[in-house]
Amino acid sequence: MYTLRNQMVLPRVGLGTAELLERRTASEIEELIVEACKNGCKLFDTAPVYGTEEVIGRGLAKAIANNVIDREDVIISTKLSNEAQGYHSTLQAFEDSRECLGVEYIDVYLIHWPIPKGHEEDYRELNVSSWKAMEELYQQGKVKAIGVCNFLPRHIENILRHADIPPMVNQLEIHPWYQQIETVRWCQEHDILVEAWGPLNHGAVMQSRKLEEMAHKYYVSPAQLVLAWLTQRNILPIPKASSIKRICENQEIPPIVFEEEDRIILHSMDSVDGHAAYWNYKRQLNF
Ligand SMILES: NC(=O)c1ccc[n+]([C@@H]2O[C@H](COP(=O)([O-])OP(=O)(O)OC[C@H]3O[C@@H](n4cnc5c(N)ncnc54)[C@H](OP(=O)(O)O)[C@@H]3O)[C@@H](O)[C@H]2O)c1
Repeated sequence: MYTLRNQMVLPRVGLGTAELLERRTASEIEELIVEACKNGCKLFDTAPVYGTEEVIGRGLAKAIANNVIDREDVIISTKLSNEAQGYHSTLQAFEDSRECLGVEYIDVYLIHWPIPKGHEEDYRELNVSSWKAMEELYQQGKVKAIGVCNFLPRHIENILRHADIPPMVNQLEIHPWYQQIETVRWCQEHDILVEAWGPLNHGAVMQSRKLEEMAHKYYVSPAQLVLAWLTQRNILPIPKASSIKRICENQEIPPIVFEEEDRIILHSMDSVDGHAAYWNYKRQLNF
């Protein structure tokens, strides 16, 4: 478990929900969410752009109504979309997400990307106005923790120059091929919890011979190997999985004692080009 600087507690691992609708129908996802709750999953990561807020909200409402889990024990995390950045539009986007999710409060609200397309010149001012709205929502108790995604240290420093409340979370792409070591270190030194999106590199972890052999050595699956390696670096991974079997596998992170040679192998897999080819990602590295 992780404790944010405002003493809010987050679990060791969460569940990503991007592209879930590509593999499952809405009613199957609702059931999957109920089953995930039954099996100890507590953190659900969504975003307006994934189109899963409504279905996740419905699944969680069902789990709560059936006494599978208490609302206080669920962490619902969603994001401010690029096109909604700005003070007034952030307040409106938050209300839209709250309505879609069908909840009174949202647990974690994150700015999705630092530099919305077309805002290369004025993203600093834009981020600061969005952040002012995020602070207000936090102070009003409508959200329990606020943070960012995909922000490099210089993007966070810009917010810090104007903020009353520093970001509590930074959700970054992190997996063996893209480790973001400097950004992770900087965030952790600034008491910002790092979450890992794409922790399984969209499934590539399971295709790697090297990781398969290492996983075999520790009697775990490749997914568990990588999730254990991340949590040992105090990073909260949010793997996405479409079946209850995989969700359970990802929730059960084994206490691996990595041999030094394996740590070195994992470390050596890092590459500057190892990130997902999202247009935002490539572009923002230059600003
Ligand atoms: N903040 C951001 O900018 C951002 C960007 C991208 C993603 N995210 C978040 O991060 C979450 C995770 O990232 P992701 O979905 O891109 O990729 P991911 O979690 O790295 O990988 C998901 C893939 O791994 C497979 N998988 C999961 N567990 C497995 C297991 N135990 N064994 C074998 N295969 C397994 C899944 O298969 P099945 O689905 O077939 O089970 C899916 O194909 C997203 O869902 C989203 O919530 C955030």
